[in-house]
Amino acid sequence: MRFDVLTIFPDMFSAYLRDGIAGRAVKRGLLDVRLVNIRDFARGAHKTTDDRPYGGGDGMVMRPGPISRALGSIERNSRGSLVILLTPQGETFNQSIAWDISSLEQVILVCGRYEGVDERIRLLFVDREISIGDYVLSGGELAAMVIMDSVCRLIPGTLGGEKSSFEDSFQDSLLEYPHYTRPRVFEGLEVPEILLSGDHARIRGWRRKEALKRTFERRPDLLAKAKLDDEDLRILEQIRSQTPACPPEAEADC
Ligand code: ADE
Repeated sequence: MRFDVLTIFPDMFSAYLRDGIAGRAVKRGLLDVRLVNIRDFARGAHKTTDDRPYGGGDGMVMRPGPISRALGSIERNSRGSLVILLTPQGETFNQSIAWDISSLEQVILVCGRYEGVDERIRLLFVDREISIGDYVLSGGELAAMVIMDSVCRLIPGTLGGEKSSFEDSFQDSLLEYPHYTRPRVFEGLEVPEILLSGDHARIRGWRRKEALKRTFERRPDLLAKAKLDDEDLRILEQIRSQTPACPPEAEADC
């Protein structure tokens, strides 16, 4: 899979692409990331990539010329490619969008800076606009790395254990169960006995129940999308019946 990233700060990507899972995927040839410096396509003595907004107001806007020329320089895959603009105005990124993207051979990520990107870039070239959350970053670079990282985990061969990405949180719309490793007792807290039992069926059952409990307590909205079987529904019913409608500490507000 190939990502072409348009940015005025290509150096921001170097540590990310060198280390960890993305670095390994690049070394193994599973991931090809090409950084395109928008400034290389700016003209004039100062090579400016931004300008004041028409109509006045604070901040600067990225000029369309350099981005358009940078996009034009990218060799496009004949089987199709997608141009994504990273912006707080886009649809909110999630695991299902990560899966969509992972099926593509070429994705072009346009990182905006300043107040935004000239609207004509969006109108002429952009296929999809994505935000990584309801907050404003100084630019799209961190968002591009978030997207590449979550997509990269889904490419077969990028993770050590092939199954691990299927067990991630959100893969089946549930949060993950709690994890434990050595030591067996830490600061007086013991690893749950069942995890030491060696009984894999019981451990699986315990983990599923803990995942359901966590999701119910922290993100009940996810349960509506989750694939739940009869046993899950029975466990959820049990969790619900053990949860006070109004927790004691909030009784005054109920
Ligand atoms: N650029 C600035 N803020 C952003 C966000 N939340 N998501 C994606 N790109 C951005």
